[in-house]
Amino acid sequence: MCGIVGYIGTKQAYPILIKGLRRLEYRGYDSAGVAMIGQSGSLNVYKTKGKVDNLTDYCTDKDISGCIGIAHTRWATHGEPSARNAHPHYSQSHNLAIIHNGIIENYADIKSRLQEKGVTFASDTDTEVLVQLVEYIMSSKNLTLLEAVQTALYQVIGAYAIAILDKRDPHQIIAARKQSPLVVGIGEGEFFLGSDASPIIEYTDKVVYLEDGNIAVIRLGEELKVMSIHGEEQALQVKKVDIDLGQIEKGGYPHFMLKEIFEQPECLTNCMRGRINVEGNQVTLSAMIDHHQKLLKAKRIVIVACGTSWHAGLIGKQLIESLCRIPCEVEYASEFRYRNPVVTKDDVVIAISQSGETADTLAAIQLAKERGAFIYGICNAIGSSIPRATDTGTYIHVGPEIGVASTKAFTGQVTVLSMLALCLADKLGTITKEEYQLMVSELTRIPKKMERALQANEQIKHLAMIFTYAKNCLYLGRGYNYPVALEGALKLKEISYIHAEGYPAAEMKHGPIALIDSEMPVFVIATRDRLYEKVISNIQEVRARGGRVTALVTAGDELISQYADHVIELPDTLECFQPLIASIPLQLLAYHIAVCKGKDVDRPRNLAKSVTVE
Ligand code: G6P
Repeated sequence: MCGIVGYIGTKQAYPILIKGLRRLEYRGYDSAGVAMIGQSGSLNVYKTKGKVDNLTDYCTDKDISGCIGIAHTRWATHGEPSARNAHPHYSQSHNLAIIHNGIIENYADIKSRLQEKGVTFASDTDTEVLVQLVEYIMSSKNLTLLEAVQTALYQVIGAYAIAILDKRDPHQIIAARKQSPLVVGIGEGEFFLGSDASPIIEYTDKVVYLEDGNIAVIRLGEELKVMSIHGEEQALQVKKVDIDLGQIEKGGYPHFMLKEIFEQPECLTNCMRGRINVEGNQVTLSAMIDHHQKLLKAKRIVIVACGTSWHAGLIGKQLIESLCRIPCEVEYASEFRYRNPVVTKDDVVIAISQSGETADTLAAIQLAKERGAFIYGICNAIGSSIPRATDTGTYIHVGPEIGVASTKAFTGQVTVLSMLALCLADKLGTITKEEYQLMVSELTRIPKKMERALQANEQIKHLAMIFTYAKNCLYLGRGYNYPVALEGALKLKEISYIHAEGYPAAEMKHGPIALIDSEMPVFVIATRDRLYEKVISNIQEVRARGGRVTALVTAGDELISQYADHVIELPDTLECFQPLIASIPLQLLAYHIAVCKGKDVDRPRNLAKSVTVE
């Protein structure tokens, strides 16, 4: 949510900042802006509504010189998306400029205090309040920028990652974080700043992830200094980032989303590498080795997550309950954190998050920790906030996911949940050795089966044209396929803006059936499993009301084609792993429908990839 980039060094800052913004655009894209201290010593701020391309068009005839700068791509919280509310924000004197990700909750209070002192504001944002406060403190108390930032942050309630420039000191960027991610890249005689490492990795692999409450003093020609808000110097933890540039580029695909859909077989192979042995009959998770006592003693497991990760959690619940016989609940992190839930030291809380930064999931972890639960994280972004806040966990290792609609992270999360459930079940003795080995070896065959599922791409591309003008769609599934139906509907909503609902197929008769007519496409996951016959009955209920059915069926199924308008064949697998296969055609369907409608697939309106505000 909002992307931050910064540069200080000997090169021209503008091209580095713009490239960085493009890499971070997935975090928000309703406006963008850049601030640089130019050759003449002026502090130039340029900002526009809309995407980074609008900003570069706007800057074509501007002074973009300077070797120090900060830049921002915004996802609006306070103040409508407009050039006026875009970041960077000047202070009243135009000596300072700030960029910010997060929310200053007590901004109204601070703003009215400053207005009483005669400060005037140029935007409706909470961010501008912070830069005005810093300037007011600097001038009224005669403090340095660093001292004024420290003092201002004491007064601020909320979450922030910020970077500030002062044109009177053109060799310094001050940055700080609380609950919003910020990474400093250390190059040869230059420094970079980013909301994540993606704008940095092209230049250096040495990074420092700022901790909550840290302030970084980034000065040209000096060592990076990190201190607490109280001014105590912090030991530098320099980490090596292990992302290669190809992973964050489109690699010949028209969109990141399509690339990420097609990457899934390889991603799942990476996810299982080193965890399932070469014989394909044993799973080992390092978290299980180090913390098996805690995990095996869990009286209950609570999964907390948001969005797509929550859907993965629903599949995790079925795996854990059916394989391990441990009661498992799945909670929206945003509800859990405010519900005063019953959580005890006998519980294990699993937090699932692609970005590892979702504010609600982090807060849910905090609450569960305070109540003594053991916290297990399932994340993708290495070194992000959630893995650092958990007791242990497992990375899904699917590589950076850039498309806003999550695809490969979902299947990666389900794969880790499958491995975790198998490890636990084996240790607890709740499944037989034969069942365990059969399941482990089937899991290793999933990437190959995904490749076969991806071969339906051309068929789905044609089908997509038929559904382009639908106003509503229904997705039905049962058992393990019910969360797949939810996820399929979410994908369509997110990128094509067609209203879609996922429902347990048998629940349909308790409401949604009233919506069914010949205008309503119904997508049914009807693979051959325990509930196959039941789902066929559900399909007939839809057909009897004139509904148009597209069924996802197990390869070779000839029965369902008698009842469905269209069928998409899927390779057969065990019921519990069906979501890994069945989600692929639904991802492709949403993608192609959105493309047919001319939508911006990778940057759908109003959404952001990483939601660091509650
Ligand atoms: C946003 C993204 C979704 C994602 C959700 C949870 O809404 O657009 O794709 O599922 O956040 O994010 P997380 O990073 O915690 O999985």
